Amino acid sequence: MKKNSAPDKEFSEVCNFSNSKNKIVVSRGNPFAKLMIVGEAPGAKEQELGEPFVGRSGKLLDKLLQNAGIDISLDVYFCNVVKCRPPKNRRPTKTEIQENLPWLYQQIKLVNPEIILLVGATALQAILKNKSPISILRGKWINWDGRLVMPIFHPAYLLRNQSKEEGSPMSLTKLDFLKIKEKIDTLK
Ligand code: URA
Repeated sequence: MKKNSAPDKEFSEVCNFSNSKNKIVVSRGNPFAKLMIVGEAPGAKEQELGEPFVGRSGKLLDKLLQNAGIDISLDVYFCNVVKCRPPKNRRPTKTEIQENLPWLYQQIKLVNPEIILLVGATALQAILKNKSPISILRGKWINWDGRLVMPIFHPAYLLRNQSKEEGSPMSLTKLDFLKIKEKIDTLK
């Protein structure tokens, strides 16, 4: 699949879950932001409100961004690899991810962010095609298609692992966000 070619289908042809009850969740935030945050797929709250990262995970993500001094209304655009909530909140299949990717590529092309955060293993594998564990790649800057990309732990994982001790997922993620803020400042 070419990253820059427009999708050759209607979205309804690839997404079996979108219907009158299940909204297509496209984005939240500033479409001119330098920082794009890519998650896995909408959850129940996202589907209800039609915006990505507005449930518990999203609230934690917002807090991590704000605590690092990142202006959510100005600097951030949120989206997901898969645009509709998979049934029973299961992880999207490889086929679903492949079928949704042309729309993510279009979002990247249109928003043209300088930095992309890959939130969790699904986003990491979908974009980087890299099977290395997120625990190895998180916090690292990687060049992808002329952009700076960083994988980070998924906030749902952080909610399950709330230790704040040095070296814990939460404390490492806070450091990742400070690195991200530093990078945003160098772009201004
Ligand atoms: N988890 C995700 O990966 N994306 C969302 O939008 C919400 C939760």
